[in-house]
Amino acid sequence: MTDHTLCQAELAGTGSYLPEKILTNFDLEKMLDTSDEWIRTRTGIQERRIASEKESSSVLAAHAARKALESANITADELDIIIVCTSTPDVLFPSTACFVQKEIGATRSAAFDISAVCSGFVYGLSIAEQYIKSGRYRHVLVIGSEVNSRIVDWTDRTTCILFGDGAGAVILKQKDSSEECGLLSSHIYSDGNLSSLIEVPKAIGRIPENGNSDKFFIKMSGNATFKVAVKRMTEVCQEALKYNGLSRDDVDLIVPHQANQRIIDAVVKRLEVSPEKVFLNIHKYGNTSAASIPIAIDEAKRTGRIKPGCRMLIMVVGAGLTWGAAVIKW
Ligand code: COA
Repeated sequence: MTDHTLCQAELAGTGSYLPEKILTNFDLEKMLDTSDEWIRTRTGIQERRIASEKESSSVLAAHAARKALESANITADELDIIIVCTSTPDVLFPSTACFVQKEIGATRSAAFDISAVCSGFVYGLSIAEQYIKSGRYRHVLVIGSEVNSRIVDWTDRTTCILFGDGAGAVILKQKDSSEECGLLSSHIYSDGNLSSLIEVPKAIGRIPENGNSDKFFIKMSGNATFKVAVKRMTEVCQEALKYNGLSRDDVDLIVPHQANQRIIDAVVKRLEVSPEKVFLNIHKYGNTSAASIPIAIDEAKRTGRIKPGCRMLIMVVGAGLTWGAAVIKW
């Protein structure tokens, strides 16, 4: 294995929170011209969670953060930075991270949001990694939190069936150890030429060319996104493994962004990894965007899928286009 690091960035705690309300495919059948069979076979999704009126991204995020703090056995006061990865912030500003900071009482931390849509969490991890490995900070909280239900067009069957709400959090901690462990590497990419594949084209800081008719809803070219997602995620996973001197057999667990079961299957097939190594919860939550990977990591941890020494590969693609991967050793 190659040693690229100065300090180790251990994943010291995880947490997640899902709103109580469940919206099943059968519920959607009553709202739209769709069917449980179509949604299940095309996406793997059976149901998703929907935030209540009182639950914004910061509310979901604070619940997940408290659980992560508890599992890391540290207090909010010990946090140096809070990074919230979200495309559905509470308001335009201040950042959702500042609301979370207030809610959990993290008096001495810096707090900011990052916007990389579904790839947000991997981007957030990558930022946290630099602060920890450089020795600058000891504890960074990275949260993915989304209320996608607020930005989907509930009359558009090609998009609204895919998304759900939720939050997941991890705490990266500087580890005093020479043993190679924790977040081994992260790899992030973007291609702005593909920005129109998935977008919420509501103008805020730019004057719309077409008057004021931009939509505040997710618009997506599903088929084109599907193809580029498979290609980019396969490439970046191969890069992440090579960077760490690992072969596919060295990977114990893959935690993919839960966007579409068929995208995941296609990537796993190309990587030639056994499907048993893949953690899936898409059937329960759909695509929770930046929250998807940290929710899955927390569930994998709490259900015993992650054991000490487990080598985990995470992979993601999102609007932007953005994509990325990371390798973690527990
Ligand atoms: N229920 C029933 N029929 C539906 C439907 C729905 N919810 N949504 C679309 N259809 C119809 C289409 O209208 C089309 O009908 P037509 O052939 O009469 O025109 C047909 O199903 C096939 O549509 P198509 O878009 O080709 O389906 P698909 O196999 O590509 O699946 C997605 C659509 C959205 C599930 C798929 O493209 C996808 O998952 N793409 C990636 C999206 C994604 O994950 N984005 C987020 C990345 S972070």
